[in-house]
Amino acid sequence: MTDTKKGGLRSQAWFGGDDKDSFIHRSWMKNQGTPNDAFDGRPVIGICNTWSELTPCNGHFRELAEAVKRGVLEAGGFPVEFPAMSLGESNLRPTAMLFRNLASMDVEESIRANPIDGVVLLTGCDKTTPALLMGAASVDLPTIVLSGGPMLNGNYRGKPIGSGTDVWKFSEDVRAGRMSIANFKQAESCMSRSTGHCMTMGTASTMACMVESLGVTLPGNAAIPAVDARRKLQAQLTGRRIVGMVHEDLKLSKVLTREAFENAIIVNGAIGGSTNAVVHLLAIAGRIGVDITLADWDRLGRDVPCLLNLMPSGQYLMEEFYYAGGLPVVIKEMLGKLHGDILTVTGRSLADNVVDAENFNADVIHSLPMPFKDNGGIAVLKGNLSPRGAIIKPSAATPALMQHRGRAVVFNSIEHYKARIDDTALEIDADSIMVLQNCGPKGYPGMAEVGNMGLPKKLLEQGVRDMVRISDARMSGTAYGTVVLHVAPEAAVGGPLALVRDGDMIELDVAGRRLHLDVSDEELERRRAAWTAPEPAMRGGYQEMYTKHVLQADQGVDLDFLVGCRGSAVPRESH
Ligand code: FES
Repeated sequence: MTDTKKGGLRSQAWFGGDDKDSFIHRSWMKNQGTPNDAFDGRPVIGICNTWSELTPCNGHFRELAEAVKRGVLEAGGFPVEFPAMSLGESNLRPTAMLFRNLASMDVEESIRANPIDGVVLLTGCDKTTPALLMGAASVDLPTIVLSGGPMLNGNYRGKPIGSGTDVWKFSEDVRAGRMSIANFKQAESCMSRSTGHCMTMGTASTMACMVESLGVTLPGNAAIPAVDARRKLQAQLTGRRIVGMVHEDLKLSKVLTREAFENAIIVNGAIGGSTNAVVHLLAIAGRIGVDITLADWDRLGRDVPCLLNLMPSGQYLMEEFYYAGGLPVVIKEMLGKLHGDILTVTGRSLADNVVDAENFNADVIHSLPMPFKDNGGIAVLKGNLSPRGAIIKPSAATPALMQHRGRAVVFNSIEHYKARIDDTALEIDADSIMVLQNCGPKGYPGMAEVGNMGLPKKLLEQGVRDMVRISDARMSGTAYGTVVLHVAPEAAVGGPLALVRDGDMIELDVAGRRLHLDVSDEELERRRAAWTAPEPAMRGGYQEMYTKHVLQADQGVDLDFLVGCRGSAVPRESH
C-alpha cells in the first residue's frame, strides 16, 4: 500500500502522474470519451449500482444512476458507475442473506482497488442496503446512500394490499379454502404495480429508514416512492452532495458513531421496523468498529412506542408515509429520545435536518403522547433455550400469546415442517408451540426467512390466526405473528434449540424477557451426548467458506474475517 499523493485526492495516485502507470490509467478511461479535465484532481465519485433484472426492486437503478451523475458533474466531480453483486430477495435461493457478506466483499474491494475518492451507494432490495454499507464501512471513504424507493401501493379489487404482508394472508386464505387459486394469481400483478422495493414496512423500507436515521442519506430519503419525480431529484442532490463531502473529508466513520447506531435502534422501534434490522445493524457496526450488542437493542428499544400505522404492524403503506411527511416527521417527534446533535452527511446535525418537518396525516404518523402502539421495539429473550439471545417483535405479535406455556411440536428442517404441517394426524392445537430447527446461519445456510411458519391447515380452518413459533431462522420484515427468531446459538452448532423434542414444555415470557425449555439439565445433557451435527447442504465453494466463518445471529451473521475497517490506503501499482 502507498500513501495518497501529498495534498491530493486518492484518485490522483492513479491519474495525477506523468509516468507510464498514469498513462495507462488515463488512456484506457479515455476509450469512453473521457476528457482530460476529468483527471485534473477533481473528486472521482464511484456510483455503486446494484441494478439487475433479477433484482426487480432495483430494476430502475440505471435511471437513478444517471441522475446521480448529473449531480456529481454539476458539483465539479467526475462520476464513475460500477456494478456490485445484486441481491434480489424474491429470487435468490436458498436465501439472499447467504450472499449479503459476499456482496459486501465485492463492494469493499471494488472501492479500495479503484481510483475513487467518494462513493454513492444505490440500494433498495432488502440485503442490498446492509451489504453495500458494510463493504463501504470497511473502507471508510466519504460515502452517501441513495435508496431506490418503495413501489406504489398494491391494489386488489379496490383495496390496498402490501408486498409480502398480503402474500402471507392470501396464502393462508387459499389453504383455508377462502380464496381461489385464480384470484390468488390475479393478485400477483395487483401487488407489484411499479418499480421499487416492497412498500410495506418490511426490511427494505426499514433499512431505508435505518440509513436515514444513521445520517448517511439526505433527509427524506427513505419514503419517496420509486416512481415519484422527487426520487430522481433526491438522486441528483445526492450526487451534488458527495462531491462536497469529499472536499470536507467527511468520512463514513465521522457519521457512523455509536450515537448514530443508538438513534437507529430507537427509530426502528418508532417505525415498527423489521427484525432483520437487528442482524444488519450489528454487522454494519462491526465493520466500522462500533460495539453494539443485543443488550443495546433491548435496552434502547424497551420503551419505544410505535408511531407508524404501516403494514405489517398497521394499516397503511409507504406511499401514505411519504405523503404524511416521511421519516423526518418521526425523527422530529422522537428527538427528545435521540442524539439530535450527531453529524450527518449533510454536514449538519440530525436535528437541523428535520427542523422543517411537518406531519400531514396524524393517522399514519402518530405522536409520542398518542402512539399507534405502546411498544415498537425489539425484545431480546434469554433463557436455557437461547443462552445468547433470541428476538421477538411485540408490535407484530398477538398480545395474548406474549406470556405463554405450550407443548413443543418440533420440525428438524423446513422440509420436515412442509411434510408434516398439514398431516391431519399431527398432534397440534392452538396452544402448541411450533419449533423449527437447523435454519440458522450455518444450518440453512444463510438464516432464511422461514421463521414465520404457516399454521396447520386444520387449525386455520378452525379460525386460529396466530400461534407461538420459535426458530433460529429470520422472518421477512413484511411478516407478522408471535414469532421468536434468531435463537442463538443455532441448532446446527448444537445450541439448546437442537435438543427440543415433541412434547417438551416451553415458556415464553416477553415481559420477563425469558425463553425457557422446561426440561431438566440432566436430560438435556443426555440428549446433547446423542446429538450429531447435520450434514452441510453443499461442500466447497463460497458456501463452505461461509459456513466455516459465519458468526451467530447475536453477532450480526458477518463472516469472522470481515469484521472491522481495513481503510482506504492506495494499493501498490499493477504494472
Ligand atoms: Fe425486494 Fe421486498 S423483495 S424489497
